Amino acid sequence: MSVKFAGIELKNQIVAASSPLTESLDRIRCCGLAGFGAVILKSAADYVRTGRGHGRKVVFCEGEDGFYADSSFEREILTLSEGLQLYREACRQEDILIIPSVGANSLDAEEWLPICRAFEEAGAPLLQLDFFYLGQIAQEDGFYGKLGGLLRTLKGELSCLVMPKLNPGFAPGKICALLKECGIRQVSLLDSMRETPVPSQGLQEGTTSYFGRRQFPETLRYLREAKRYGLEACAGGGVASREDVRQLLEEGAGVVQVASYVLSKGFASLGDLLDIEKESSGCAEIFRQSPWCGRKIGGEGGCEACGACRGLYCYVPAPVDTSHVELSEEILELSGLLAKNVHEVWAAGRIREGWAYGPVRDDRKKETPCLAPYELLSEAEKQYDRNTALETLKLIQKLGYRIEKE
Ligand SMILES: Cc1cc2nc3c(=O)[nH]c(=O)nc-3n(C[C@H](O)[C@H](O)[C@H](O)COP(=O)(O)O)c2cc1C
Repeated sequence: MSVKFAGIELKNQIVAASSPLTESLDRIRCCGLAGFGAVILKSAADYVRTGRGHGRKVVFCEGEDGFYADSSFEREILTLSEGLQLYREACRQEDILIIPSVGANSLDAEEWLPICRAFEEAGAPLLQLDFFYLGQIAQEDGFYGKLGGLLRTLKGELSCLVMPKLNPGFAPGKICALLKECGIRQVSLLDSMRETPVPSQGLQEGTTSYFGRRQFPETLRYLREAKRYGLEACAGGGVASREDVRQLLEEGAGVVQVASYVLSKGFASLGDLLDIEKESSGCAEIFRQSPWCGRKIGGEGGCEACGACRGLYCYVPAPVDTSHVELSEEILELSGLLAKNVHEVWAAGRIREGWAYGPVRDDRKKETPCLAPYELLSEAEKQYDRNTALETLKLIQKLGYRIEKE
C-alpha cells in the first residue's frame, strides 16, 4: 500500500514520529521491521552537551494509555554530529524513507541554515523543522513576522523540502496561513502538550509533556486548518486506534505519524493501526523488545538504561506468599469446582469478544485451542486454572476470612 508524500514514495501511510522510537539505529531497524512506512529521526540541534541536563522520567497514567514524560533538552535533542551520523547510517541500513528532524532555540536563520544544509548535503530530500522549543515564545509580539522571515530564508536557500512541525503553542489558523504565504507545502503535526500531572510525582513543570489520546482533538483542529490552507500534512498526536488513523486520512492527512501508542504497547501494536505487510524475519524478536530502550521485555536488569520503561516492561510479578497456608479437604474440593468455573467464565468472555476454537493460537483470527470444554484441556492448561483457584482460596484464608458451607 505505497503512498506518495512530498512527491516521495513511502511504503505505507504510517510514519514513526520523532521520538525514542527513532533515536538509535537499533530502534530504527525495529521500526522498519515492525512495518512503519517511514521514520522521522529524533531531532538534532547544533549545540554542545554540557552534561548539566537531566535524564528521562516517564509516568504512565492510571486508567488510560497515555503517559507524562519529563526530560531536559540535552536528553531529548541529539547533537548535530550524532544526528548526522544516525541519518547516514540509517539510510545505509534501511530501505524506508528516513526524514531528519532539526531544531534550534531561536528564530535566527543563521542558526537554522547550517544544520539544514548539513542534512541536505547528506542527501535528505525532506527535513522536519522541530519548532517545539519555539512554542514558548509564540505569544511574543512580532513572533509570526520573524518566523515568516526565517521560513522564507530557508525556503529560498535550501533545495530540499522543509516541513515545519507545529505544537499547541501556535495559533492554528495563523501558523497555517503563514506557511502557505511562505510557500511551504508540507506540515508535521502535532507536538505534545506541555502539562504536569497533579500530584506531579516528581515531574518538573517546565520540562514535562503529556502524550496520549487526549491530544487527538487538538491534532484534528490543526489538521483542519492545515487542509484549509492546502498543506500536505503528516498528521499525528494522540493516535490510538485504527479508527483514529482512518479519521485523519479521511480528513485529508497525507500520512499519519505515531509515537506514544507504540511506545506504550510495543512494536507489535503497530498492527492494530493498519494492516501492513510485515517482514516476518526478526519480528518475533523485536516484539519482545522495549520500544524505549531495546531491552528484552521482562529481561533481567530492568531498564535502568532509559529510565522509562521500567514500570511498563520490567514487571516482576509479586503474588502474596501463601506457601504456609493449608486448606481443608472440603476447601480443596471447592478449588476443583472453582478451577472449572474460572475456565467457563474465561471462555464465555472470549466467545463474546469473537474468539473461536482453532487448533493453534492465532490472535489475528481470534482462534485458540483453549476454547474447549474444561475436561478436554491439557493437564498443563488445567493446572493454570487450578492454581488460580487454589491461590485465591489460600489468600482468602491468609487474610483471615472464612468460607463456610450452609
Ligand atoms: C519521549 C519523547 C521524545 C520526543 N522527542 C521528539 C523530538 O526530538 N522531536 C520531535 O519533533 N518530536 C518529539 N516527540 C514528539 C513526537 O514526535 C510526537 O509529536 C508526540 O509524541 C505526539 O504524537 P503521539 O501521540 O503519537 O506520541 C517526542 C515524543 C516523546 C514521547
